Formats: sequence, structure tokens, C-alpha cells
Amino acid sequence: MRIPVIAGNWKMNPPRPSEATSLALAVREVADNLPGVTTVVCPPTVFLADVRRAAGGGRLHVGAQTMHWEETGAFTGETSPAMLAELAGFVIIGHSERRQYDNETDEKVGRKVAAAVGHGLRPIAAVGETAEERRAGSTAEVIDRQVRAALGGLGRIGASGLVVAYEPVWAIGTGDAASGEDAQTVAAQIRAILRDLDPGGADEVPIQYGGSCTPDNAAEYFAQPDIDGALVGGASLKPDAFAAILRAAAELGPA
Ligand code: PGA
Repeated sequence: MRIPVIAGNWKMNPPRPSEATSLALAVREVADNLPGVTTVVCPPTVFLADVRRAAGGGRLHVGAQTMHWEETGAFTGETSPAMLAELAGFVIIGHSERRQYDNETDEKVGRKVAAAVGHGLRPIAAVGETAEERRAGSTAEVIDRQVRAALGGLGRIGASGLVVAYEPVWAIGTGDAASGEDAQTVAAQIRAILRDLDPGGADEVPIQYGGSCTPDNAAEYFAQPDIDGALVGGASLKPDAFAAILRAAAELGPA
């Protein structure tokens, strides 16, 4: 039985700490009453402490959007897993925007995932093909490479707390969401890779769908056998929309 994990990726929003706190309080109200769902909000690093306070030790979990893999050192502007472990339970690793704008390579993603697990953080490892890769018919190849690289540094997958997010890059922020069927095809491929790497641990890992997930399409994803939640961008900034996605996950319950 996998408990669905719904994570809100706030990206570089909202602009002020007071708004981050209000948003977290609104999500907390819903999350605290949904025991069947693991709810996570991932604010900008600078708001983690405020959001953690707002979460108040209830059911709402806090996640970071990225981190470095080293403990300390000369890495200007970076945050280490040890620092995050004080403030967050989850961390998104390898989001396509970081792969695109911050040179986050497969190799770095692998180091970061291993470092997160080593510090007791649950990594949300994000993978997904671009529009060009999809047109070229190389989706399966890209997913295979990205997943194996992301998990390459993990000894065992079982009990690692790992979450994998399948986010087709062409679906992120575009309104052009993947169909439930297409998302399931890739999620099943990811599950098969997990099984290949750790037959005993593969079924523990929640696999999320991400990319223009809204209250209108969320249930379609959650009904798929290998999809156990969502990584939500735009809709996670709207408390009512995010609440509706959380309720859709709660209704369908654990896979
Ligand atoms: P979106 O973003 O829901 O706005 O498409 C998803 C993500 O980037 O994680």
C-alpha cells in the first residue's frame, strides 16, 4: 500500500514571507484533515523556516526545491543537505527547470539524491523528456538514463524514502498535460526500472505525475496503477485548487 504524495512546487513564489505563511496555513487546514495523503509544500529556501512554523508540526510536510550534495564548503549561494534536514523532510532533485537553467546534470542529480537520503531527507527525483525528445521517439531512452543516473548512488531503494516524479517537460506550465494513459505508460516503465534495481523495494516508491496537473485532471492520474500522487506547480499556489487535488488523492486512497 502506497500512500499518495502530493507536493506543491511553489518555484520562485510568492514574493513575500507573509504570503508564504498564509499559503502554508491555508494548505495546512486541508492537509491536517487528510490522513490518507502525504501533503508537502516546497517553498523557496528562504521561506522554509516560516513555512515550517506555519505547518505547526501537523500533517503538512515541508520540502526544499533543490540542494547541494556537500555538507559544507566553498559553494556560494548553495544549501547543504545537513542544513535542510533541520527545516525540511523532502527535497525536489533534478527538476527540469534546474536541469535547463542551472546545469543540473544526471551525475549531479545522482549525487544529490544519495546525499538527501544520507541525511534523512526524502528526495523527490524529477525526470522527464523534452518535446523534442518526445517527437524523436526517445522518451523511454531518456527516462531510463535519467532514472538510473538519479538512483545510481543509492545502495537500496527500499526504505530510502525515495519519491520519483515523472514530469514531461513539454507539460510543465503549458496547460498541455499528458493523458492519464501516457503518464501511466512512463510510470510503469519507471516501476520496472526500480524493480530491476531493487526487486524488494520497488513497490514502496511513490511515483508522481507532474505537468499542468489541475483539479480537472488530477483524478485521472491518481486512478492509474503506477501513479501515486502529483508534483504540482501553478495550481499549488492557489489554495482552493491545491485542496481539490489533495481531496482527489484522498478519495482514491492508497494504491
Ligand atoms: P505545473 O508545474 O504544474 O505548473 O505544470 C509542475 C512542476 O514544474 O513541477
